[in-house]
Amino acid sequence: MKFSTRAIHAGQDADETTGATIVPIYATSTYTQDAVGEHRGFDYSRTVNPTRSALETQLASLEDARYCSAFASGMAATSAVLNLLSAGDHVVVGDDLYGGTYRLFSKVLSRYGIRFTFVDMTDAAATRAAIEPATKLIWAETPTNPLLRLVDIAALAALKPAGCILAVDNTFATPYLQSPLALGADVVVHSTTKYIGGHSDAVGGAAMTSDAALAETIRFHQNAVGGVPGPFDAWLTMRGAKTLAVRMREHERNARLVADFLAARDDVAAVHYPGLAGHPQHELAKRQMRGFGGMVSFALRGDASRAFAFAKSTRLFSLAESLGGVESLLSVPARMTHGSIPVADRERRGITDSLVRLSVGIEDADDLLDDLRAALDATASPAGASAR
Ligand SMILES: Cc1ncc(COP(=O)(O)O)c(C=O)c1O
Repeated sequence: MKFSTRAIHAGQDADETTGATIVPIYATSTYTQDAVGEHRGFDYSRTVNPTRSALETQLASLEDARYCSAFASGMAATSAVLNLLSAGDHVVVGDDLYGGTYRLFSKVLSRYGIRFTFVDMTDAAATRAAIEPATKLIWAETPTNPLLRLVDIAALAALKPAGCILAVDNTFATPYLQSPLALGADVVVHSTTKYIGGHSDAVGGAAMTSDAALAETIRFHQNAVGGVPGPFDAWLTMRGAKTLAVRMREHERNARLVADFLAARDDVAAVHYPGLAGHPQHELAKRQMRGFGGMVSFALRGDASRAFAFAKSTRLFSLAESLGGVESLLSVPARMTHGSIPVADRERRGITDSLVRLSVGIEDADDLLDDLRAALDATASPAGASAR
């Protein structure tokens, strides 16, 4: 079955008890057993819940994975993958990544004896040089948050030493546009809070793999650590994911128009969007992805005050953290999502106070362009940084 069909049917058979067409929300923490130690596969909802199981089957299918474990957030999913490691292990990780992942790695897990080397993963030689005998995990985010750079997943898989796991955070691309497992990754991680859920109404995460041993260890930690989603959130995420394909097509159509519009403005110093011919990895994007996605970031000319004024001048783009919902959002990553990265590191990576990140929603494109144009014009400096 094709992607859109699986999104609507995988894991979502009619309920056996009632025939309910839509998977019910099993709001129960426990299950009545037939006799001591005899139950129907469900004993306690941290371990297993039918609504969550349906979501896991749906998401595994979308990522073309054999297994999926759902979590209470993207960070809980990331933590569960890192639970595969032990003290003394080393991780090579891309240096352009979500600030919360950076925080988990550098401020939490480093205290447990896991070492991290942050490297520019667009540089194959630098990535190769960062790998040590103790490297047990390579962690890549592609496209990256917030600079929309790409990492070559197949090239990373080829670099990977035996016994080392390649994990890819596929949140920005979604399984509709990119299939890391098919490119050689061992594990895919998602913040389902974003495009998969798609409506900014539930926080969640997922880890998918086709490796039975990895899946078993991740599931063991899912239960042992307990960062699971409740049945209501699992259900909302599953409902959202049904329309992932339709939404992604619209997100991308609008994002391309927004990227072209911004690229034509004199007051925009740089536009980061993999679909632009001038993007440094446009060719890789065409090869590795089935589309360029709905995220666009851009650097405004002028000082930070211009960017901050612009950020509160839009009417449709809400100034908010997060991304991937049907509504358009805008953020200044240096002061919001990436605030936990030290200033010098941020600036070195190009995450300056003038960098604006857009999550382009699926509203009417004309309205979105009008909104951006009005906010840019309203905050243009008198010196003439205006529209062409
Ligand atoms: C690329 C990426 N990965 C992981 C996360 C973390 O997900 P969550 O906020 O669901 O914990 C985020 C959140 O913004 C993200 O953008």
